[in-house]
Amino acid sequence: MRTLVFLGVFSLLCVLVFYRAGLDIVKTLSPQGCRMSWMSPSYVLQAGLDHSWTPLASRYSLFLYREVGWEAPNELRGSPVLFIPGNAGSSHQVRSIASSATRQYFSSPYHVSPSFEHGPQKPVDLFALEFNEDLSAFDGHTLDAETAYARATVDYILSLYEKPTSIIILGHSMGGTVAVSLLPHPNVTALITMSSAHTLPPARLDRRIDSILAANLQILREDPTPILSLCGGATDLLVPAESCILPELEGTEGTPRIYRRTIFTSALQGAWTGVGHKEMVWCHQVRSRVARAAIEVAAVAERSPEVRAEALDKWLRDGHTLPLPSTNAAIDRHDEILDLSTIGPEQIQHIDALVLRGPTQPYTYLFPVPNPSSKLQTYFTLYLSRGSIVPVSPHHPLPLRVSVYLCPSSTHSTTCPRLVPTTLKLVPEPIPDKPFPVPDTGSDESEGVVVFAADVPVGASEQQQHVAVTIEGADGRGWLTAAFVPSEQVVDNTGMFGLLWSGSNINLPVTSLLTEMVFPNLLSNSLLVYKLQPLLNDAATCRDALMPPLLEHSSDHAETHYFSLLQNDRHHQVLLHSHASGPFISAPLHGFNLTLYTSNDQPCAVRSLRISINWWGTLGRWGTRYAQAVVAWSIGVVALALHHAWGAGKGLGTVPAVSQSLSYFATRLLLKMLALAFVVSLLPLPTGMWLGNVGAPVLVGLAPMLLLVAVGLACVSWAVVDGILELTSRALSCGVRRPARVRDTIGARRNALVSMLFVFMLIVVFIPWQVAFLCAWIYHFHTCATTGAVLRSVSGNRPKEQAIPLMSREESNNPTSPTPTSPTSPSFDTLVSRHNMDKHILLLMTWLLPIAAPVLAVWVRTLAGSGLEAVWGAGSGWGWSSDRNVLIVAPWLVLVEWAGVGGSVTIPSFGGPMLSPRHAMFAMALAAFVAGPRTPYFVFEVGSVAMAFVCAFGIGPRYWDRG
Ligand SMILES: *[C@@H]1O[C@H](CO)[C@@H](O)[C@H](O)[C@H]1NC(C)=O
Repeated sequence: MRTLVFLGVFSLLCVLVFYRAGLDIVKTLSPQGCRMSWMSPSYVLQAGLDHSWTPLASRYSLFLYREVGWEAPNELRGSPVLFIPGNAGSSHQVRSIASSATRQYFSSPYHVSPSFEHGPQKPVDLFALEFNEDLSAFDGHTLDAETAYARATVDYILSLYEKPTSIIILGHSMGGTVAVSLLPHPNVTALITMSSAHTLPPARLDRRIDSILAANLQILREDPTPILSLCGGATDLLVPAESCILPELEGTEGTPRIYRRTIFTSALQGAWTGVGHKEMVWCHQVRSRVARAAIEVAAVAERSPEVRAEALDKWLRDGHTLPLPSTNAAIDRHDEILDLSTIGPEQIQHIDALVLRGPTQPYTYLFPVPNPSSKLQTYFTLYLSRGSIVPVSPHHPLPLRVSVYLCPSSTHSTTCPRLVPTTLKLVPEPIPDKPFPVPDTGSDESEGVVVFAADVPVGASEQQQHVAVTIEGADGRGWLTAAFVPSEQVVDNTGMFGLLWSGSNINLPVTSLLTEMVFPNLLSNSLLVYKLQPLLNDAATCRDALMPPLLEHSSDHAETHYFSLLQNDRHHQVLLHSHASGPFISAPLHGFNLTLYTSNDQPCAVRSLRISINWWGTLGRWGTRYAQAVVAWSIGVVALALHHAWGAGKGLGTVPAVSQSLSYFATRLLLKMLALAFVVSLLPLPTGMWLGNVGAPVLVGLAPMLLLVAVGLACVSWAVVDGILELTSRALSCGVRRPARVRDTIGARRNALVSMLFVFMLIVVFIPWQVAFLCAWIYHFHTCATTGAVLRSVSGNRPKEQAIPLMSREESNNPTSPTPTSPTSPSFDTLVSRHNMDKHILLLMTWLLPIAAPVLAVWVRTLAGSGLEAVWGAGSGWGWSSDRNVLIVAPWLVLVEWAGVGGSVTIPSFGGPMLSPRHAMFAMALAAFVAGPRTPYFVFEVGSVAMAFVCAFGIGPRYWDRG
């Protein structure tokens, strides 16, 4: 008993810790810095989308967004864009993006902004679906209905425009899943999903959702429509960011490149912030870019997918790919080549390293390429604050323009071609002493440092080569710095266990513009968070540095995070986290890179970095990823308890109380299971099994710990259920003086059969099985409570009156059975046994409720929101038809009905010790432990099959005999 209490308290503490740590992740790992967006919204209902288009017209609706005072409400002038909201989302979520699209296209009401005046761009008409806040994440059939409606909507919207026309689709969260399901579609130009899960459903309670995502994966691999996925990173607690990453395509030679891009907002140029799940649609830094991308893609809608992909790439960039040379070639062609002879000698300077604050004049700097004899490969690196190096710049750049050329030799010729960069991207420019990103504000559109790096070929000739840097548009604002840096990487070979043990110190070389560090042996996994503590030479002088140290962490082809190393906080630490791999998605990946950007104008160097594990963050990551696993494992524990109870109760033995079964489990089995969990964690199982980590040795501690929590939670849950049961049965025994239920068994039997048939009928035509399961649970709870009340009255009144216990079939049909007279008589024991067995089953059903409950909630909501018709799906074919799965819930109905009329659910000895129906529970536990964490719904299915087995062989024969 003490063990149980200890386990219970331990698990509650763990849950509390997981919960707190999980919440802290939002603030610590990838904080959010977003400006609010403002608009004057109006939504025009599209009544034309009626029943002639879709049978779902009465359930869902379509709106057109209009900015009040900026656009005429009904006139369609532009290119259509459709927004699909997610789970419990609303059509109104479109307002931030839609308003931004209008206010970017028009500079004032009805006046086209100068930048679009002569271009091919048109304003966009943003339509938004209204799903009445349907809970599509929990129920595949709702998702199917939404997809069917969205498909009809696309046809309808296309019909409003002159042919040929096409549409851009934006999907938020589950809306992204709906959007992908619409493909392939000849008239969808591009698809942008925001905070959507692509590889793993966030709630895995429904088989249908899993199969929809699997079908979508196939679409994502093959469909030529450009698809871009925006991910909010660790800040998004609802959709684990590792499932937001689009699957990588196996590139086959010869086929045209299919555009799939995953962009983390932490790397999105101009945003550089974590973005929460709901915030994704209103965060100003994100919505303005999404809106602009929609305008630009719509302008090239009739062109090839490659051209559309370029437009997406231009406006939603994270720096992982090199920018394409501007398609607007006329603008930059003139400075494709630099002719030194045209520049006066007073405007040319030879220099080794450049540090320039607030340049005021046009100038050209020549950097001699280092001597080839130095052997070291060198990078030419240049940082430019707030200006532009075509085509990269902040959204609102200064006039300052810098171009970089490579001059073969200054004696032979004076023309220099452009130097092709290996890196050209915008990185954030944190403000010293302010948190980065600044809370509620984030980065400004004019901010950002353009990083230019090029691998300069060291010519074999003796001729001195130069890199030429020209500055134009200098007006005293902005700065730049440039130099050659050795392309040396600092490699730290510390392994995971070394890190667990003691952490690792990395000493950095003398200051240079760019330092790269590689950690080939550390895991990049969403379950691990590292702590990085920088040691600065002199924090005070760093405040005046052009570019205070900025750290870039990249772990995946899609994921990059930036951290400012200079913060007010003395104990400032950087929390490195990654989504390159995660449980149930891919085996843990090794290796990540850190890049340190600093200017070399001040003695502000990072002397060393110390890296270790951050446990609090790590625990927070576990909590959000394994909540469903713990539920599945608790079901497994309870199933094993039932297995034990049936084992002990077979023949004439007494069925132990639930707490006895649990303590048997805790004292006899738990240690062995912990050891087993440890071993199984080391096996390279497929990602869908166990905890989905494919035997990564450093994560073995996870399984035993979760097992302890699961066992503890099973104990706690039993304490709670038993407590409520006790109260209810007390209330019942007060209310009913003589609770003995003497019944005409034959009548009861017939009634029960009739009522069960009635329930089956209901499931077939009307209610989903989840509702039937809840009813079964309530009925069984009632049975347990009344039996409890009877038992109390029997044991309490024993000396005075003859107890009349439950009239069980065995007794009523067996005249020779002794009349129960005292608690010591076998009949009283039988009663207690039966009661204990019922309670075991009650606990198991209670643990299965979380799997059924969400769909139940969906059903109730749909019923309340859209009325009977939607639920029934009369005529539409989109009701709950496929969810009226009688089979999955039938065994439970039979079971509780049997228990309800006093049938004993004890298992007879049957087929010897090896083959007993009780072993079905063992199978269920096995399913719960091995497959449960990835697919909790599978546990329910196996449970139903197991119960069917028990019903068929355990109680079936007696059922028909007595009935
Ligand atoms: C959809 O695309 C096809 C093929 O490009 C085109 O023939 C058709 O006219 C388009 N439909 C509409 C409604 O524009």
